Amino acid sequence: MERELVIVIDFGGQYNQLVARRVRECNVYCEIYSYKTDLQKIQEMNPKGIILTGGPNSCYEEGAPTYTKELFELGIPVLGLCYGAQLMQHILGGTVEKAPVREYGKTETSLDTTSKLFDGIEENTIVWMSHFDYIAKMAPGFRITAHTKDCPVATAEDASRKLYAVQFHPEVLHTVRGKEILSNFVYHVCGCSGDWKMESFVENSIQAIREKVGGGKVLCALSGGVDSSVAAVLLSKAVGKQLTCVFVDHGLLRKNEGDEVEAVFGPNGQYDLNFIRVNAQERYYKKLQGVTEPEEKRKIIGEEFIRVFEEEAKKIGAVDYLVQGTIYPDVVESGLGGESAVIKSHHNVGGLPEHVDFKEIIEPLRDLFKDEVRKAGLELGIPDYLVFRQPFPGPGLGIRIIGEVTAEKVKIVQDADAIYREEIANAGLDGSINQYFAALTNIRSVGVMGDERTYDYAVALRAVKTIDFMTAEAAEIPYEVLNKVMNRIINEVKGVNRVFYDLTSKPPGTIELE
Ligand code: XMP
Repeated sequence: MERELVIVIDFGGQYNQLVARRVRECNVYCEIYSYKTDLQKIQEMNPKGIILTGGPNSCYEEGAPTYTKELFELGIPVLGLCYGAQLMQHILGGTVEKAPVREYGKTETSLDTTSKLFDGIEENTIVWMSHFDYIAKMAPGFRITAHTKDCPVATAEDASRKLYAVQFHPEVLHTVRGKEILSNFVYHVCGCSGDWKMESFVENSIQAIREKVGGGKVLCALSGGVDSSVAAVLLSKAVGKQLTCVFVDHGLLRKNEGDEVEAVFGPNGQYDLNFIRVNAQERYYKKLQGVTEPEEKRKIIGEEFIRVFEEEAKKIGAVDYLVQGTIYPDVVESGLGGESAVIKSHHNVGGLPEHVDFKEIIEPLRDLFKDEVRKAGLELGIPDYLVFRQPFPGPGLGIRIIGEVTAEKVKIVQDADAIYREEIANAGLDGSINQYFAALTNIRSVGVMGDERTYDYAVALRAVKTIDFMTAEAAEIPYEVLNKVMNRIINEVKGVNRVFYDLTSKPPGTIELE
């Protein structure tokens, strides 16, 4: 499938994925590669444009990440951002030095609006700066197209060679016209037409899956999360009843979640797939009896999942393909794409491939960012409440109950969590908080209800704002909302007499409370 491609070359900046996402929001497909990627490989991909990201280094220092000069001689437009801009100048004969004044934050900038990069943008605008070094002297052939009070070369260009150096970060939302600048680059400089659309992605994927699978048998582990749901529906649209989905209800799901998943994907739902629900609650509770250590719980839940899935797979017999809901950030983070090789220890269906008899893995969402997976989900007609589900850990409520997991405690945390979610939605806060849930502490304390003494559990409420889930801050929930949630939980959930709000950021905390 031919499609226009813009390549992001990653120099270790914290916004590398954001750059690619923003380009895709302009309907241009974009992939991230490490700066260690060969020029020949880049050339073979025939990109319409190349973007060099920011990074933590100084380009004039020994051993700093760099790239071959030939990159700038291919005739392919290059946009350097922050470190990428400095590196471009450094390589092409300019001078980069420690700046007399460090710029950080929202900064007023004056643009030369004759630059193609600034088509349709006013002369004075706010951009997001974050740099110690600056371009002291431009490389031959370049002209200045923007400056700030402290930065004489905020942007520079050699339009004849289609080379653009931008000291600020157009990819972050604080740069007011950032999206337009990136859009101008891909459309007006690179000449893209914008052929990356979710409806064509869905159509093309269905076609490609049909061709690949032929008459083969496909197996998918469906968790009800966004990724596995979208993957399953895509497969079901492509190969119908050749697909079997196994949904393991481990008894650690949110309130009513098992039934909701079944309602959509089960025999009475809207999709044509062989849906198998395994009610493994008792099995899990038994395995978890007496276990209090969080890592041990995770291990038990993960292993039990494999056992249950294996048993189901055995009943189905050998399959040709196993579906996995891998998405693009997983690919980048596992070091296959970009430079920032952060490998998550999280596992949902960890180890599955070794345990099931199949020929090949299909990863239909491998190219998509999370927001694109959601768009594809909507395109496929999956209900909103499934598509916009918050992240939910594979081990489920097992890691939202401190100490031993029991059926009784699961019920408490499910009920408290349902109330919390309902009130957050009622207050209209669900769009602005990235993740929120109730957890059950192992504290029991004395309270008084009516005239009775109680000795009950304390529920902890968590709510965070985050971009990447690697760092997070506690969300500022209005006091009235928290108060209402507290009142409702204590009145409606038996076994709870105290409610705490967790203010901890990550680090030092984690998002989950395990
Ligand atoms: P932590 O608690 O590590 O969580 O700050 C970061 C994000 O990851 C989610 N999480 C998981 N997701 N499998 C998953 O798919 C897991 O085992 C797992 N553990 C944590 C967590 O909900 C948060 O969004």
